[in-house]
Amino acid sequence: MAPSPPHITARRGKFITLEGAEGVGKTTNREFIRRCIEMSGHTVIVTREPGGTPLAEQIRGLLLERREDGMSSDTELLLMFAARAEHLARVILPALEAGAWVLCDRFTDATYAYQGGGRGISSERIATLEEWVQGALRPDLTLLLDLPVAEGLQRAGQRSAPDRFESEQAAFFERVRLAYLALAQQHPARYRVIDAAQPLEDVQKNIQTVLTDFFATL
Ligand code: TMP
Repeated sequence: MAPSPPHITARRGKFITLEGAEGVGKTTNREFIRRCIEMSGHTVIVTREPGGTPLAEQIRGLLLERREDGMSSDTELLLMFAARAEHLARVILPALEAGAWVLCDRFTDATYAYQGGGRGISSERIATLEEWVQGALRPDLTLLLDLPVAEGLQRAGQRSAPDRFESEQAAFFERVRLAYLALAQQHPARYRVIDAAQPLEDVQKNIQTVLTDFFATL
């Protein structure tokens, strides 16, 4: 039987996603973006993937914990989408349908970048699951924070003990970065690439400009 895609016809809120590899400054800039959206007069829910509900956060724990027996790439892919299905059903779709905006720290583009670019799973396989789990839902705007891999890893390395993804080699993150930049080229209407190597003040000026332009289209 064909899967039923999520019901999105009544969607009114805007769906904004924040993407980038390790150490690009997503957490810092997430709060800045939240404030910009609130100041424009919209209610916004800030959430993240994998995670965003109690069950999806448990799945996140499984995905991020380092394990000696490893995890197959397909298991990783399916767990990402299992967490996403839960997050969509419980948080994202109800919020959008109620007219709230949703700011999500990573979404399916991270799957194309990490499981696709990083692990080598084909885009076609990912697209099949995307269609199954999301139906026609795609972000309205995606901000990609872009930074050379060495700099990102250096910044991320100053934080706590590395998780299963952070333990990957630089070559993995080079593939992730290239996959993100390719996605930005494929979807120019919704993607805005921000140079995250600039001083924070300039990064946030760029973000502010992108958001102001986006608000102007509403
Ligand atoms: P975070 O550190 O930004 O919270 O993300 C957790 C990790 O999960 C990060 O290393 C990227 C990875 N990830 C994927 O591999 N695929 C996905 O679809 C998502 C949402 C995250």
